Amino acid sequence: MEDNTCKCGNCKKDKFMEELFTKFEPEKDNLIQILNSVQEHYGYIPTRTQKEISEFLNISLAEIYGVITFYSRFTLKPKGKYNIAICLGTACFVKGSEKIMDRAKERLKINPGETTADGCFSIEETRCVGACGLAPVFTINGEVHGNATVKSLDNAIDEILKREKEENV
Ligand code: FES
Repeated sequence: MEDNTCKCGNCKKDKFMEELFTKFEPEKDNLIQILNSVQEHYGYIPTRTQKEISEFLNISLAEIYGVITFYSRFTLKPKGKYNIAICLGTACFVKGSEKIMDRAKERLKINPGETTADGCFSIEETRCVGACGLAPVFTINGEVHGNATVKSLDNAIDEILKREKEENV
């Protein structure tokens, strides 16, 4: 009999996904929890895993994509070693966080949701991180930088670059 099994190697679930699916019932209500686990494990939601989740929960890829893009904690691309998240929530926005975002884009030559070619930095937009009293705010790997300015962003990036250079000497 003809063997129609795909041999490309990309279609196989890895051990993590196989084990993950044993922890959940194939019910739509489990989508967010499954995506949380995938994001935590891989640092993003690879396309391959979206297809696997779609088959497991019997829901469309479009629906999964909609959920991933709705929640800012889910990403479709790997984040950089240093993820700079700039808050564009109301309190931060009125205090000029857009200028900080513009500077991050200019300085790192990437857009929100992207990672620099060397994998060092990524930037993302966030909505209120619960530190409105310190607005405008950005975070680097979750560490809050309050009362932020274009200059404080530049300083933070300079510091990282310096540290990385020293570590790689
Ligand atoms: S709006 Fe930025 S921390 Fe609340």
